[in-house]
Amino acid sequence: MAQTCIIVTGGAGFIGANFVQQWISTEPAAVINLDKLTYAGNPASLRAVEANPNYAFTHADIGDFAAVSRLLAQRKPVAVVNFAAESHVDRSIHGPGEFVQTNLVGTFQLLEAVRGYWSALPADVGRRFRFLHVSTDEVYGSLQPGDAPFTEQTPYAPNSPYSASKAGSDHLVRAYHHTYGLPTITTNCSNNYGPYQFPEKLIPLIILNALAGKPLPIYGDGLNVRDWLYVGDHCTAVRLALSKGRPGETYNIGGNNERANIDVVRTICRILDELRPADSRKPYESLITFVADRPGHDRRYAIDATKSSDELGWKPAETFESGIRKTVRWYLDNSDWVQGVVSGEYRKWMAKNYDTREAT
Ligand code: NAD
Ligand code: TYD
Repeated sequence: MAQTCIIVTGGAGFIGANFVQQWISTEPAAVINLDKLTYAGNPASLRAVEANPNYAFTHADIGDFAAVSRLLAQRKPVAVVNFAAESHVDRSIHGPGEFVQTNLVGTFQLLEAVRGYWSALPADVGRRFRFLHVSTDEVYGSLQPGDAPFTEQTPYAPNSPYSASKAGSDHLVRAYHHTYGLPTITTNCSNNYGPYQFPEKLIPLIILNALAGKPLPIYGDGLNVRDWLYVGDHCTAVRLALSKGRPGETYNIGGNNERANIDVVRTICRILDELRPADSRKPYESLITFVADRPGHDRRYAIDATKSSDELGWKPAETFESGIRKTVRWYLDNSDWVQGVVSGEYRKWMAKNYDTREAT
């Protein structure tokens, strides 16, 4: 009999790679990683598992119906977990087309392939099958200070091409459950941080710029608030949603760690001052530079994760203070991984997004 397995998509990205590693170290089933290896997909993030007999890799696009259908027929997974996406808001502002293509059209093709596979399964196997779609709190739009955090009932109000394309994919997933009965689960999580995050996102970008003595760019007034979730806690929540979540339901996952961007950056600077003081002995905070704001910049995100806590028994293990310290240490201890990602493509992106941004 073939070994029990799940398929994850986007497993070479930041959250996917953390998930694959956590899965291999905690679960008996094998995991097949289907990834297109865009600029954000990095096989070096999977070195620790690549020789493990419970891990396999398939190079494909979630939008390639034939390739996905073939893999499903060969491997007969008990679940598909969809992490694959274009994920960076600033890139979606410069070029929204890829976001619509992967996040919306790609998810549609993936759902079609999964529907074909699932509908041919024996009834009892089909009932236990899960399609878990990983989404974001950004689909709910922007909160003002004092507003109650997002719940699963908050109406969708996406503001960026990124969040609009994710919202569209969430609606498709919902419709495939409602119309075809596909056993789907959607998770909407807040901003993740931790090991293996590509340094286009705030936290790794600040760590690496500081170590290189470069300006630390803060958009607008620095008072935009995000609810920071340690990636390992997120992966635990996804595993619990797979085993305990009810088909057709959505679950919010948040770190309970609301912080203004300026406070996040100052915290990183202080940890670096302690662990790796600058040669100049100047505090890293002296590198902070306020720059032109992101167009349409959402002011605040915050998650109410009561449902995940009540139904899945999930709670984050890390506070922001413990998680950010671990994260800074990881980037200090993994300079080989860092060197591998700050490539020509990365430098081109940094020039495109920051060189024309006036300091304010
Ligand atoms: P990431 O950008 O680091 O990685 C995305 C991965 O998907 C990469 O490995 C890439 O190669 C792959 N990919 C992209 N397009 C693909 C395609 N068409 N077919 C197959 N593979 C493709 O993203 P991440 O930060 O790990 O995010 C994972 C998921 O979590 C995304 O769906 C994202 O929307 C969601 N999410 C992320 C955050 C966060 O803070 N990072 C927060 C909320 C939700
Ligand atoms: P980011 O990590 O891109 O995640 P998201 O946009 O999905 O929340 O950004 C987190 C916050 O940091 C967001 O409010 C934008 C801000 N930010 C900066 O101030 N400077 C930067 O260089 C970047 C990349 C983000």
